[in-house]
Amino acid sequence: MVPLTMEKAASSAPGKVILFGEHFVVYDKPAIVSAINLRVRVEAWRYEKPGVWLGYRTLVDHPSTRAVEYVLEKTGLMSGIRLKILSKIPASVGLGSSASVSVASAASASLISLGRIDRELVEKAALEGEKIVHVNPSGIDTTIAVRGGSGIYRRSRGFSSIDIPLKKILIIDTGKTRRTGEMVSRVREFSEKNKERFSEILSREEELINEVLDAFKSLDFEKIGELMLVNQSLLKEVGVSSNEIEEAIKLALDAGAYGAKLTGAGGGGCVICLVDEDKLEKVSKSISNKFKVYLTELSAEGLREEKI
Ligand code: MEV
Repeated sequence: MVPLTMEKAASSAPGKVILFGEHFVVYDKPAIVSAINLRVRVEAWRYEKPGVWLGYRTLVDHPSTRAVEYVLEKTGLMSGIRLKILSKIPASVGLGSSASVSVASAASASLISLGRIDRELVEKAALEGEKIVHVNPSGIDTTIAVRGGSGIYRRSRGFSSIDIPLKKILIIDTGKTRRTGEMVSRVREFSEKNKERFSEILSREEELINEVLDAFKSLDFEKIGELMLVNQSLLKEVGVSSNEIEEAIKLALDAGAYGAKLTGAGGGGCVICLVDEDKLEKVSKSISNKFKVYLTELSAEGLREEKI
């Protein structure tokens, strides 16, 4: 039987915020993650020349290339693929843009090769892509970009969806970009130099996730805010905060946020703040004098096929 394949296809995937547990998730501790309503769309065409092309140039050393190559290897498609990436997710600031691009690229390649999105294949392919830019990706970014919603992710156990009582989150972009791989290496150095303390930090982080789940159940937003600050202090201790992050957090707290912390790899990038609905305007206004602010929806839809 001749498989049903396509000449052109499109798909989209969401960005993400890690609400709790980034970096420690690399060491197999649980993290809480949510997809956001900023998406990347990737259009793909069969191309007569072999390889993966962005427009009319070959894409080298790019997570998307690796992800698409993986799909082509596994599905045995012989033609090349040409991609067009349209992203609303700011890059290199902790919102998962590289993972989402890899996921949507692999999904469009899957549509071209198989006529459908093989979600398991896409997750594996995107993780291969992430290995190009990360030292040791936990898989959290690619998993949430495929699955969407909100959930707990643990490296050894995968993803389980949960309902979270937060609909929206305020994101402050410090404007400073950084490389995830460098931040992951920084934490590894800390862990090697401070073995005992690092294992205490990991235990504290695991406890903290359970406290967050309890606070979610009892809708205790003050407690959730407090736990964000505890998580932030652990991240600061392992070396991934920055002056901009600390400044953004202070601005948010002074303006009345329940809590705030870096999200993603840190070293710059974005800060998330939990703010009561009626204080949103005041908090956004006082931060926007200094930094870019976005109000984003949480638990957004995961990977999906799009019309082309
Ligand atoms: C990056 O979004 C999250 C990190 O924990 C790295 C990873 O989990 O692969 C910093």
